[in-house]
Amino acid sequence: MENSDLLVLNFAKGLAREAGLLAKRKIGNLGWTHTKSGFYDIVTDADLAVEKMVKSEISSVFPEDSILSEETGETKTLSNGRVWIVDPIDGTTNFSKGIPHFCVSIALVINGDPQIGVVYDPYMDELYEAVKGNGAFMNGEPISVSKTSELKEAVLNTGYQYSATEYRDIVLKNYVAFFGKVMAIRVFGSAVLDQCYVANGRIDGFWEYSLKPWDVAAGSLVAKEAGATVTGIGENFSVYGKTILVTNSKLVDKILDIINNGR
Ligand code: IPD
Ligand code: CA
Ligand code: CA
Repeated sequence: MENSDLLVLNFAKGLAREAGLLAKRKIGNLGWTHTKSGFYDIVTDADLAVEKMVKSEISSVFPEDSILSEETGETKTLSNGRVWIVDPIDGTTNFSKGIPHFCVSIALVINGDPQIGVVYDPYMDELYEAVKGNGAFMNGEPISVSKTSELKEAVLNTGYQYSATEYRDIVLKNYVAFFGKVMAIRVFGSAVLDQCYVANGRIDGFWEYSLKPWDVAAGSLVAKEAGATVTGIGENFSVYGKTILVTNSKLVDKILDIINNGR
């Protein structure tokens, strides 16, 4: 790994840990909560506080880079192709109910391609990290995807955008199509952790429609570097696309067959 990547990685890891612990301290003391695009799309004062802290540290260390973050959008500086993509709390609905399953996600994306991804789950005290081409790690140990090859042995996760109605029918159709064909279908409520759970083999696959760059920038890199196949659904995968399927190479065609053909 290049020395410059290592420096950026260490910065991002320290920042994700600091941000996750800040969120954790706020979980019992939510302050106000209000809605964004619709009733179910909420933001808490913790989302804003964590985002503010993360953005301010990134811009003080890397003043020439852009930052794209969920609650405040993009801060454009020079067009050097480097964008930090940040989800201050992924799993806000869980967080707002005191459910300890959420994380902080920070990625450095260069010309549309994730180069560094860091995810921190403060309750599990699990830090996921990946640098493109250098593998994926959880708390410093290498991780890899599951070897599950049969659908009936697979535990799959999915999720859905809180307020989007665009994919409602497809989400329900897929649920029905998978029902009875796989060991279990879960909706844990953090798309970023879902991708990390594919990376460390806890689950065998994850798919979702209508995601945003901050939901996939770091998680998709961690998963790819752990050996996952990452693809879009009916489109090529891109950090700026909408859909994602993350699984191992033995399950990918079987899962796509169910999604595309209902069988
Ligand atoms: C959400 C979570 C959820 C997923 C939604 C995302 P947020 O992110 O990742 O699991 O199903 O599509 O919007 O709003 O908690 O950062
Ligand atoms: Ca969020
Ligand atoms: Ca999110």
